Amino acid sequence: MLPQETIRRKRNGEPLSREEIARFIAGITDGSVSEGQVAAFAMAVWFKGMAREETVALTLAMRDSGDVLDWSDIDRPIADKHSTGGVGDNVSLMLAPIAAACGLAVPMISGRGLGHTGGTLDKLESIPGYTIMPSAALFRRTVKDVGCAIIGQTAALAPADKRIYAIRDVTATVDSVPLITASILSKKLAAGLRSLVLDVKVGNGAFMADAAEAEVLARSLVEVANGAGVKTSALITDMNQPLADAAGNAVEIANCLAFLKGEKAGTRLERIVLAFAAEMLVSSGLEADLAAAEAKAMRALSSGAAAEVFGRLVHALGGPADIVERADTYLAAAPVIRPVFAAESGYLASCDTRGIGLAVIELGGGRSRPDDAIDHRVGFDRLLPLGTRVERGMEIGRVHAANEADAARGVERLGALYRVSAEAPASAAEILTRIS
Ligand code: URA
Repeated sequence: MLPQETIRRKRNGEPLSREEIARFIAGITDGSVSEGQVAAFAMAVWFKGMAREETVALTLAMRDSGDVLDWSDIDRPIADKHSTGGVGDNVSLMLAPIAAACGLAVPMISGRGLGHTGGTLDKLESIPGYTIMPSAALFRRTVKDVGCAIIGQTAALAPADKRIYAIRDVTATVDSVPLITASILSKKLAAGLRSLVLDVKVGNGAFMADAAEAEVLARSLVEVANGAGVKTSALITDMNQPLADAAGNAVEIANCLAFLKGEKAGTRLERIVLAFAAEMLVSSGLEADLAAAEAKAMRALSSGAAAEVFGRLVHALGGPADIVERADTYLAAAPVIRPVFAAESGYLASCDTRGIGLAVIELGGGRSRPDDAIDHRVGFDRLLPLGTRVERGMEIGRVHAANEADAARGVERLGALYRVSAEAPASAAEILTRIS
């Protein structure tokens, strides 16, 4: 069928067959479908949506547009997690080594910062020598020997998504549930997973502020991934404050290392990381129930096994051998570090989480344009959680900046992003819904 016929049928709200979708995606991959046709197709899907079977067919066709990794030589369940993105969301950095220490193999394909959210790859590039684009052989060897590897998307993985995403980005067609579903899952399925756990974030620091919308996306992702043969569950989690007590790149790596050394016990971050580790262990079949799985993940953390895996991962991908022991030697510090003080006494009642993500970008820790260089040293740390009782003049966080002027702006900005109230806020659960 001609591409314009497929577009016309979708525009008219007719269901597309699996073969028709596969042909259209093959045309996108080999270039015979034009940019204008991709844009028209994306807009037709934006308006008319897709049935589940169509979304599964789109996902599989996009997965098959490039290499699909085969891990049959690895004698461990192959599992991964994906987050829709947030502020201070460094969960992947701790989760991959915990899961590996518990017996999973985690070939994690991660991304760079998007919009106001930070990116796992940008954070890892704070570590001198760490390569996010290793050769295929080194990636494979690292997953096999260490149990996990966190790297970037190669050109060979789901190339149709790369082309479609770039066109969606400039044609107002990003926010379509079937297109987001196929985009995220085609890359994950191409990584050869057997099971997947999704962190769908909701709140003022997430792409979705509305719980009902987040649930629609989570259900689409779970149903399509399961329909494609990958055992998948999702947790909808709160993103109304930074998840870690840091937001930035090197500061989030420092936070990750402190976490792996047991210095973040009892935090929201720890509860979320352990919940995702438990989901991964159960959905991969390594553990039968979530409580036993969480206890196992906790042992991997408290015994130091996960920290050891993280150290080996960094070294295998070109970083120093002793990052866990000597983080301060390797993570470049910002020239200026300034405290931010509470302007009044009361409780930290709410914060503008998206504003905190944007403030990191303004400090130089994220990009305004795709090819911008970033300053890994800058950001915020020692952020207090919402609900904390503070007195006027007490430190509520710190700014890491490249110079005095940026630090002064950052101090003012961060202070204005928190609201202090006389009443303690109701405590918010970090995990809102589980979907499987
Ligand atoms: N992330 C992706 O990879 N694709 C989307 O469409 C949205 C977020």
